[in-house]
Amino acid sequence: MNAHDSERIKGMLEELGLGEAADQADADVLVFNTCTIREKPDQRFAAHLAQARALKDRKDETVIAVGGCYAEAQRERLFELYPFVDVAFGPGTIPHLGDWLGAGGHNVARGAFGIAEERTFAGTLPMHRERRFQAWIQVSMGCNSKCAYCIVPRVRGREVSRRPGDIVAEVTRLAGEGVREITLLGQNVNSWGRDLAPDLRTDFGELLRATDAVTGIERIRFTSPHPKDFRDPVIAALAECEAVCEHIHLPLQSGSNRILKAMRRTYDRDRYLRLAEKLRHAIPDLALGTDIIVGFPGETEADFAETLAVVEEVRYDSAFTFVFSPRAGTEAAALADHVPEDVKRGRIERLIELVQRIAAERNSERVGRVEEVLVEGASRTDSSLLRGRTRRNTTVNFAGAAGPGDLVDVRIESATSTTLKGTEAALVAA
Ligand code: 5AD
Ligand code: SF4
Repeated sequence: MNAHDSERIKGMLEELGLGEAADQADADVLVFNTCTIREKPDQRFAAHLAQARALKDRKDETVIAVGGCYAEAQRERLFELYPFVDVAFGPGTIPHLGDWLGAGGHNVARGAFGIAEERTFAGTLPMHRERRFQAWIQVSMGCNSKCAYCIVPRVRGREVSRRPGDIVAEVTRLAGEGVREITLLGQNVNSWGRDLAPDLRTDFGELLRATDAVTGIERIRFTSPHPKDFRDPVIAALAECEAVCEHIHLPLQSGSNRILKAMRRTYDRDRYLRLAEKLRHAIPDLALGTDIIVGFPGETEADFAETLAVVEEVRYDSAFTFVFSPRAGTEAAALADHVPEDVKRGRIERLIELVQRIAAERNSERVGRVEEVLVEGASRTDSSLLRGRTRRNTTVNFAGAAGPGDLVDVRIESATSTTLKGTEAALVAA
């Protein structure tokens, strides 16, 4: 969502006539789109901001704009902490940056715009897309869950669904521009629709069906769903819509019932496992990904062992693993019994090892098969190869003659825990 917000910020600035500078030092305006989900992005931002300040010391008219979730979380203190920042805006108030700069930038009073102001969908702003054949579509903003570790509800506010007609109109327009793959975005994407006015009330399954019906859209992805919101009509739509890819990101967070409860995830281990089973049954050859946090306050060795056991049982194709990072203002930050740093480190290392072993096994099962790949460009590691993604969302490096945006069949020849390697099927035949 943050990366998509950046596309909108960039598109909006371009519309104002502000293009991208070749180098930071040449820029008249420096815009930061911050994340504050864990402490690490906060620290990285502090380092970037120090550099920006040095530039401004040399060139006084440089404008420094700080947007995103960190700006929202720190809105009361941002100007106090960083007096050289000119304008601040939250993730829901991106257009204010345009208004502020459009009004003359550094000659107008500095401003801070945040969640208290009216929030708008970034989807209504111009967008700068890096790839012409792929696009993100924001379907909702905010989140009504209360996960104890998470800062998102505080900085992005309560959930508001975008109107179905607006979403489908955007998808249709993008398809007309050559987009073949869309990713529907929401903090809790599969609860989409429940807050709409009664005459519009619908569900995420219906949205999948409506976007699946748009001519030209060959692949539909979505992120991130919450396990609690996978109701049967949504699962049926996943199974029936041809363009919906066989890949679901299903955040587990922990495998221990005690920790899941403390996290306020509202499901337990068995319910999660039943859902994973149901999804696999409904969607043959489904790839499952997940998010896992280790070292939540009070997590014991036994709790952690439960997480490892669930990972073994589900056999994820991929997983994002995080060390718990206390965020000021969240319920978990105030809990007693924080897990020592070295214990967290030890646990995440063991978890990563397991995740990688299983992902390598899962990927090796693809060897010998032919996979449909959407070509993204040249391989990052070997420029003689192309790079793309399968429907199951695995990166493939392959020998071939296709161009970016093409859908091609690739015969898989080898695998690692994160990538596949192969040869374009037409080349094999030739
Ligand atoms: N510490 C560690 N990981 C977190 N996440 C969210 N908040 C925290 C936190 N305070 C992780 C969750 C979520 C993903 C986007 O980031 O796993 O699913
Ligand atoms: Fe955060 Fe939970 Fe909402 Fe996801 S569902 S954004 S983890 S509060």
